[in-house]
Amino acid sequence: MLKVGVFGVGHLGKFHLNNWKEIKTVELAGFYDPDEVTAGEVLEKYQIARFLDPELLMDACDIVDIIAPTPAHFELCEKAVRKGKHVFVEKPLAHTMEEARELVQLVRESNVKLQVGHVERFNPAFLAVQSLPLNPLFIEVHRLAQFNPRGAEVSVILDLMIHDIDIILTLVKSEVKNISASGVAVMTDTPDIASVRIEFNNGCVANLTSSRISMKKMRKMRLFQKDAYIGIDFLNKKSEVIKLKTPRDVDVFTFDIETPNGKKTIALSNPQVPEVNAIRLELERFTEAILHNTPTLVSEVDGLRAMDIAHQILQKIKHNTINS
Ligand SMILES: NC(=O)c1ccc[n+]([C@@H]2O[C@H](COP(=O)([O-])OP(=O)(O)OC[C@H]3O[C@@H](n4cnc5c(N)ncnc54)[C@H](O)[C@@H]3O)[C@@H](O)[C@H]2O)c1
Repeated sequence: MLKVGVFGVGHLGKFHLNNWKEIKTVELAGFYDPDEVTAGEVLEKYQIARFLDPELLMDACDIVDIIAPTPAHFELCEKAVRKGKHVFVEKPLAHTMEEARELVQLVRESNVKLQVGHVERFNPAFLAVQSLPLNPLFIEVHRLAQFNPRGAEVSVILDLMIHDIDIILTLVKSEVKNISASGVAVMTDTPDIASVRIEFNNGCVANLTSSRISMKKMRKMRLFQKDAYIGIDFLNKKSEVIKLKTPRDVDVFTFDIETPNGKKTIALSNPQVPEVNAIRLELERFTEAILHNTPTLVSEVDGLRAMDIAHQILQKIKHNTINS
């Protein structure tokens, strides 16, 4: 059995506690959270030990699960890796690029696994399209949320957009050529809403809009490629594919349209969305990587790459704001 210690049992930390309890290969060693009220709630609801010293909890476990606010990620990760503990750390990997680079180096020199909580990789709507040949040339993303002070210690880029940046970097196998961005700090000192265009060397362009000051929620990614449109609705866990019909498309809804090149038959389908809990799955996959000594599915290098793009976006927004 792998022993896990949970560091930070606020909003998301409680979801982690619930999910760890369901994973057969682990047992909870305890939790650490400096907030008395939150710790009291968890002690009452869960029969697990509270540690007052984070290092003692680290010593008592194999997996250090970090769901503390982003500015605390580095210190906890660094201590855990130096103690030879496997680390699951929520996104973003760290607060600054220097911290993220140092963590990547530390993990490289150690014998531990680190996974970053880019949970949308495990979203069933995204898993549903994994078997398709994905080669997008144009990507349109909207991630909109209502304002919530949780997460507001970082910009909307590091809080929300980083999920889409990570997904896009897994989909587009090409280097980033250019980034344009604008953003506005409305409710906090950092951008709360942003519009970003990322151009890749292979010609792919991704337009991303992220907002944490919207009235409605939306988490949608639309992929356009040579022969297909693929829609992924992360919020409602649905996906759809609209493409030119091929002989392999049987039992799908079709309709004809006249084009300058003649009549085309369009096939419309909704790929089967697996019934999975994304948080449970990411934690299970992490424990499997430890037990089978295989690479983690969202590595520290993935976490660093997403942060690198996020920070380039922030620099562009800063530059545009200063010059406006
Ligand atoms: N993957 C996702 O979709 C997703 C969603 C929400 C939050 N997050 C990330 O999870 C982290 C926590 O977010 P949250 O919404 O649960 O915040 P939260 O404020 O609800 O909870 C954070 C908890 O960490 C505790 N804490 C503070 N300093 C600590 C320390 N040094 N060690 C241990 N605990 C400490 C706080 O007391 C609090 O209880 C953030 O990094 C955030 O970016 C990820």
